[in-house]
Amino acid sequence: MRKYLIAGNWKMHKTVKEAKEFFENFLRKLKEKTVDREIMIAPPFTCLFACAEAVKGTPVSLGAQNACWEPKGAFTGEISPEMLKEFEVKYVIIGHSERRHIFGETDEIINKRVKGVFSAGLVPVLCVGETLEEREAGKTFDVVKTQLEEGLRGISGVSGETLVIAYEPVWAIGTGKTATPLQAQEVHQFIREKLKELFGEVADSIRILYGGSVKPENAGSILEQPDIDGVLVGGASLDPEKFYDIYTAGT
Ligand code: 13P
Repeated sequence: MRKYLIAGNWKMHKTVKEAKEFFENFLRKLKEKTVDREIMIAPPFTCLFACAEAVKGTPVSLGAQNACWEPKGAFTGEISPEMLKEFEVKYVIIGHSERRHIFGETDEIINKRVKGVFSAGLVPVLCVGETLEEREAGKTFDVVKTQLEEGLRGISGVSGETLVIAYEPVWAIGTGKTATPLQAQEVHQFIREKLKELFGEVADSIRILYGGSVKPENAGSILEQPDIDGVLVGGASLDPEKFYDIYTAGT
């Protein structure tokens, strides 16, 4: 009932030329074989125009890596949901750990962004996850609970089509260390219970993605877990072959 979402977060990688090359190769592979999973790529803002052209008429949806809560105004350096809609963007990653930890985005800012994206009709992909220190101190569930409660404050009327959550343990991002499938499942199950408290039974239709050093070699066992409904891939999504292999992993 929940369709897997295989998502790539390119972070601050790829020029327009490199993005076009990626899609030439990735779409060639997709033409050979598609599986019943949704695909999303979130390129840097500067590549959105070229990527929107490239994915037209293909099964690939576009995502953005952040968005402001206002449609326009004096917000230097920000991009609005309205602007993203011009490029057929469907998903917006909000609260990524790099935004939280490098750029100091708070739960309050993240909540504003989630609300802005949601009310503009785009799908927020709200990222949550604990640091290594927090995990070792036994605070994983507390941290994730607060990030969910604060990040989703004031949001109502969600469905499986309008909200995605991504669990990305900070210690697994870009480190080559992955949570074991069972470690991830345990937190995903907790997230689903929390979503049930917040939104009721519709939580069963909301997709919860795992992110953190996902590779073709580990994607299959991660996706097998009952509460893992897709992956949010950083490094390996830059390579069309690897991203394709993650997309088809275990099929
Ligand atoms: P890596 O796959 O490079 O660990 O990055 C994960 C991530 O942050 C996706 O948003």
